[in-house]
Amino acid sequence: MGMNIYRVDSYDAMSEMAAGIICRQMKEKPDSVLGLATGSTPVGMYRRIVELYGNGEVDFSKAVTFNLDEYRGLGREDEQSYYRFMHEKLFSHINIKEENTHIPDGTAEDGDEQCRRYEEQIRRAGGIDLQVLGIGHNGHIGFNEPADYYPVRTHCVDLSESTIEANRRFFTDINEVPKQAYTTGIGTIMRAKRILLLACGEDKADILARALTGEVTPRVPASILQFHPDVTVVADAGAAKYLCI
Ligand code: F6R
Repeated sequence: MGMNIYRVDSYDAMSEMAAGIICRQMKEKPDSVLGLATGSTPVGMYRRIVELYGNGEVDFSKAVTFNLDEYRGLGREDEQSYYRFMHEKLFSHINIKEENTHIPDGTAEDGDEQCRRYEEQIRRAGGIDLQVLGIGHNGHIGFNEPADYYPVRTHCVDLSESTIEANRRFFTDINEVPKQAYTTGIGTIMRAKRILLLACGEDKADILARALTGEVTPRVPASILQFHPDVTVVADAGAAKYLCI
């Protein structure tokens, strides 16, 4: 309980450990509600989960998932949508039921209504058992960007310049990078029973140290995890560079 920080040698070791944590969760509670993240960090974890599934080591038939976020304006079939990402990296390779997977709809006509419904769906599912997170260079979790306050619930957010810049690697032109996204809130994330924060690469070292050992402030949204009762951090050597562990 509290915060457990694991420093592992490589990206593969981080992915292996993270996949193991997910699979143990599924064994202990087959109808677990998983909160899932996209981005580069968890790709290896998803790959490993698919392997473990292939070996018959994990069953997702009763799993329920809620993704953290989706770009506003991107449809499901858009190459860069998180819907597509999740299906390509995980959902289409395991036995999860499509109706048990949830990702905000980037094309929802009534964004506010969708955000309310998303929170309600999470609540009805019994809350998130295990929330997987990556961390942005500015300390964001989900797309909760640095701000003067913590956004509590699922909402539509204006992405910061640094996030747009970080995401441009996936698009041919910076103008194609969506400027807004739907994201679960800091309250939604903090209500998860357990949190698994993954970080890899030296470019995350500074922000990871600030988030885990610095002042708790909405200017570094991930810093609030210091107040969560059950956080596991798995960082590779690069990301853990400034952590004294
Ligand atoms: C993704 C998400 C983001 C990412 C973060 C790090 O669903 O919510 O907070 O986890 O931007 O992204 P990567 O892993 O690409 O460095």
